[in-house]
Amino acid sequence: MLDFPEGMANGKTAGASQGGHGGWRMISCSRRSLLGLLLGAGGATIGALLSVPLLRFVLHPVFKAALPLSWTEAGDVKDFDSVTSPVKRLVKIEQRDGWRKLVSEKAIYVCKDANGKLSAFSSICPHLGCSVSWHDEENNFVCPCHNGQFTADGKLMGGPPPRGLDLLECKVEDGKLIVHYQYFRQLVPNKEVIA
Ligand code: FES
Repeated sequence: MLDFPEGMANGKTAGASQGGHGGWRMISCSRRSLLGLLLGAGGATIGALLSVPLLRFVLHPVFKAALPLSWTEAGDVKDFDSVTSPVKRLVKIEQRDGWRKLVSEKAIYVCKDANGKLSAFSSICPHLGCSVSWHDEENNFVCPCHNGQFTADGKLMGGPPPRGLDLLECKVEDGKLIVHYQYFRQLVPNKEVIA
């Protein structure tokens, strides 16, 4: 049984009521549909809002730049006891690319100063990124690409590189030399970490 609104039961008509009982059903259905739509929209909005943190958590590795590289072991300190000129070492580094963990080897040069203090340089030329190598006979680093030259302590001697070799942070722990491998921007006069 239909519940007629006041003033319409006596024959006054309005809108869909002209269709008789079918018209009242139409009004009732329209109201229900509208309410359903509003409830659905509200539910969808709340669901979307609640899912934002979850999506951000799940997609975080995709949008985040490669994570900073970790500290890595460059060898036993005693291995460098007899070092008189820069020695090349390959260090393992880990990078995260989205969900993947990438492990690769990078070349560094370990040097020792007159006081026996160890330091480490990236072997990547700050000009255009070629790998420099140590030349005993010339007593300097040489970059094969455009003949950039650097002293044993990484200072720029000549060629197009805009600065000296990039010094890496390093420390000694439990008798091991630990190096913080990083990438630096090329073609700029000042050292600038990019990863
Ligand atoms: S890349 Fe090293 S001098 Fe150009």
